[in-house]
Amino acid sequence: MMTREELTAVLGAPLGEAANDRELFAAAVEVRNRTVGDRVYLRGLIELSNRCRKNCLYCGIRRGHLGVERYELTDEQVLAAAERAWRSGYGSVVIQAGERTDGAFTERVERLVGRMKTLSNGELGITLSLGEQSRETYRRWFAAGVHRYLLRIETSSPELYARIHPADHDYDRRLECLRALREEGYQVGTGVMIGLPGQTVESLADDLLFFKALDIDMCGMGPYIEAPGTPLAAVEAPFSRAERLQLALRMIALLRLSMPDINIASTTALHALHPQGRELGVAAGANVMMPNLTPEAVRGDYKLYDNKPLQDMDLQGFNVALDNGWGDSRHFALRRLNVCVSAESQK
Ligand code: 5AD
Ligand code: SF4
Repeated sequence: MMTREELTAVLGAPLGEAANDRELFAAAVEVRNRTVGDRVYLRGLIELSNRCRKNCLYCGIRRGHLGVERYELTDEQVLAAAERAWRSGYGSVVIQAGERTDGAFTERVERLVGRMKTLSNGELGITLSLGEQSRETYRRWFAAGVHRYLLRIETSSPELYARIHPADHDYDRRLECLRALREEGYQVGTGVMIGLPGQTVESLADDLLFFKALDIDMCGMGPYIEAPGTPLAAVEAPFSRAERLQLALRMIALLRLSMPDINIASTTALHALHPQGRELGVAAGANVMMPNLTPEAVRGDYKLYDNKPLQDMDLQGFNVALDNGWGDSRHFALRRLNVCVSAESQK
């Protein structure tokens, strides 16, 4: 593992043309191809609802953003999208929504998970990205058939976390949730935003060390992009958009080098900053993409940030894996194996 100083040096090298990082990206791709292979795994993204009880200062669908038309997909819409993912051979879907913890919502999710399992003969893998929940809720969703969960830490710095969230949002609570998810048996993914106001390359280096220390299975991270009408958009960011893109690609490559066998997403935010953003992410070491399967009529309402791409993803030119496997993180499989082996050897 590279030290904090080494990581900081790579991240802090002068930013110019993204192509200047060619050697770094080539090394990351070589490591990826050797460990998790050279194919890109697909998750169908279903944005269930943009209602959210939280008020994160950077987010376009925060509770306090009154200009947003709020929507909720019907069961039929969710199941049709899931079926489309399964029939297209994606192998798994990600259900994402703003955070809600009321019983009507958590029970609905549980029911939908069961129905997605049934319609796909148990074949469709299901990942949730529904924020901070009680351990009991995580347990119930896992029992219903979910096996992966994405919960971004947003930044590993408690100070910066406090600056980009209202006072009642709690860094430690988020950490507790990540631990609870692991303990309940999920494959756990997290991630950060890159180029936030107040963020430094040292802090980004700490993020990479944080992922390693947490021993995550998956990571989704992308550039921070101002969301018009949010409090944080009024604060000047330390890096230009082009620089954020390049920093995000460096983060992907460095993470691949430090955690060779995890799944790393090439995120939509990369695409929002560059027409070939997703391709660049894969060329920097990512191995997962999430084509949007949300019905087009409401896609524009799930607007976390400016310029979010709404069109269907063009998969031409990607070496995609369409064999209906769940595309589990190899890291997770190996950890489970190691647990079994050490349990054996303790007998
Ligand atoms: N820019 C980039 N990413 C954002 N997210 C929310 N708002 C923004 C923004 N303005 C990301 C957060 C969140 C995920 C769902 O979207 O990291 O976890
Ligand atoms: Fe809600 Fe997530 Fe946006 Fe925060 S980032 S306001 S939790 S949707």
